[in-house]
Order: sequence, then structure tokens, then C-alpha cells
Amino acid sequence: MSDRLKKKSTEATSSIMVFPSDTNDYGTMYGGRLIEMMDMVGGICARRFASHKAVTASIEDMQFNKAINRGDIIEFNSRVIYTGKTSMVIKTKVTREGYDESKEVCARAYFVFVAMDSVGKPTEVPILEIMTEKEEKLNKIGAEIRKRQAFEEKRFEIELKENL
Ligand SMILES: CC(C)(COP(=O)(O)OP(=O)(O)OC[C@H]1O[C@@H](n2cnc3c(N)ncnc32)[C@H](O)[C@@H]1OP(=O)(O)O)[C@@H](O)C(=O)NCCC(=O)NCCS
Repeated sequence: MSDRLKKKSTEATSSIMVFPSDTNDYGTMYGGRLIEMMDMVGGICARRFASHKAVTASIEDMQFNKAINRGDIIEFNSRVIYTGKTSMVIKTKVTREGYDESKEVCARAYFVFVAMDSVGKPTEVPILEIMTEKEEKLNKIGAEIRKRQAFEEKRFEIELKENL
């Protein structure tokens, strides 16, 4: 039997107002800026869960489904949905807040973070405890993401070897 700690999912949330410095010529938000913020909030979530530093290993299935405009208030919400031995899949959603405080999802991605020990080596994370039906569904998505990602990792190795 594993003596690894079991832990409920952790979350992290942050909101910003989109400034002109966050936007392009059309007044919509730069994708790179959005990913930077998603990475940061996801990193906070990963650290809370792992109780260790965590680095971004990959970003999976980034979807920008609605343009975000200058002046919008957007909220970043991250949660751990799946854990491996040292890795965590963190789903980060970006929602826009309307003037009536309604919420609309504008982007989402799955970030894989790896927990690191004090000498910079991957270290074990707790086992994710699944509490609800929603968490069960998200956990299945996380498992699929990791399965697909293992294939991508192999392809990347081949690309490096063959200098493609
Ligand atoms: C991520 C990293 C720590 C993995 O190191 P490694 O020596 O390959 O470690 P391991 O082979 O022991 O793998 C550790 C875990 O990382 C996962 N992993 C490794 N490479 C990965 C990748 N490219 N994408 C997603 N997960 C990856 C493994 O599947 C494993 O997960 P598990 O323990 O849950 O099964 C290393 O590649 C690294 O430091 N990358 C740079 C991270 C970084 O700087 N991020 C900021 C972006 S600029």
C-alpha cells in the first residue's frame, strides 16, 4: 500500500482588468499575456497542492474561444484535476465578468506542472482525492490529457534526435 498522502484538490483564483498594455492593435488581449497569467495562477495552485515549488512541463489544449477586450474584467481559476507521481494536471479557465456580474468562459487550458524538491529534482505529490461526480469527470479528462501528452513527449524526443 502506498504511504503517499491523499489530498483534496486545491484551487487558485485571480482577477485583472485588461489594460491597453495587455492588448494588440485591435484592442483585444494578447494570447501570450493571457497564457502568462494562466501559468502564474496555475503555478500557485500547483504549489498549494504539492507544498513544493512546481515548474510548467507542458501546456495542453489551449483554447481561446472568445476575444477578450480592453477594459474587460477577467478571472483566472485553476484547480488540480489529476495527479501522477510527481506531475499535476491543472485546469485553468478564464472567464469574463459582465456589468451584471454574469460570467462567460473565454479561454481554458490544461497545464502540466511538476513538483520540484530543494535540489531541483522532481518530487512526489500527494494523491488527488476525488470527492464529487464533477471531480471524477475532470479526473478522467486529466488522465486522457496525460495519455495524449505521453505520445507528444515521445514525438518531441524523435524531433530532437532527428533535428526536425
Ligand atoms: C519538467 C521536468 C522537471 C521533467 O524532468 P525529467 O528529468 O524529465 O523528470 P522525469 O522523467 O522524472 O519526469 C517527472 C515527471 O514529469 C513529467 N514530464 C516530463 N517531461 C514532461 C513534459 N515535456 N510534459 C509533461 N510532463 C512531463 C513526467 O511524465 C513525470 O510525471 P510523473 O512523475 O507524474 O509520472 C524538466 O523537463 C524541466 O525542468 N523542464 C523545464 C521546466 C521549465 O523550465 N518550465 C518553465 C518553462 S520556460
